Amino acid sequence: MPRKRVAVLISGRGSNMASLIKAAKKPDYPAEIALVLSNRLDAAGLAVARAEGIATAVVDHTAFGKEREAFDRALQAVLEQHCIEIVCLAGFMRLLTPWLVRQWEGRMINIHPALLPAFKGLNTHERALAAGVKEHGATVHFVVPEMDAGPIIGQSPVQVAPDDTPDTLAARVLAEEHRLYPQALKLVALGEAKLTREHDEPKATR
Ligand code: GRF
Repeated sequence: MPRKRVAVLISGRGSNMASLIKAAKKPDYPAEIALVLSNRLDAAGLAVARAEGIATAVVDHTAFGKEREAFDRALQAVLEQHCIEIVCLAGFMRLLTPWLVRQWEGRMINIHPALLPAFKGLNTHERALAAGVKEHGATVHFVVPEMDAGPIIGQSPVQVAPDDTPDTLAARVLAEEHRLYPQALKLVALGEAKLTREHDEPKATR
């Protein structure tokens, strides 16, 4: 089976992107990282991708002002130019319009640093500690228009230690993210995890 062409969308350091690049180097991995796309010219992960010989592109969201859909159409044009089949959001800090999300239904996935549906949104580690949960972790899910709400493909739990700070907890969750994301992308690339619908509600099947 030909390897699926994947774009990784980043806004910052790109450590999850690097974990996907590493996994995709294995000859039997069912996906190749064909493009790294950022909304920020200064995203540190871009240099990492270039050093790996991966095509990179930047669509600067600030050039589009409040025109979210125009920004998303520009993203879509770049994805099409590179014949992308699956999109991985990896620390991409822009909310996408329902229009773009619909183009990629079942073919766009995201990693979130919490055990969804707990702690959607930002500052998840601080909030998990403030809530006093014993277990935290990471989730990979299909992207749907509502933020951090799509059907779950995989989760990796992390035990919270009594002396954890947001930084120590973030570091252990991040290590799990780097393990989880390549596994989840593999399932999607192989068609072993799929987004289906039941009574029009999206659902992940494995
Ligand atoms: C990760 O914690 C990811 O779960 C979240 O943003 C962070 C991105 O980190 N969505 P990196 O850029 O992959 O290092």
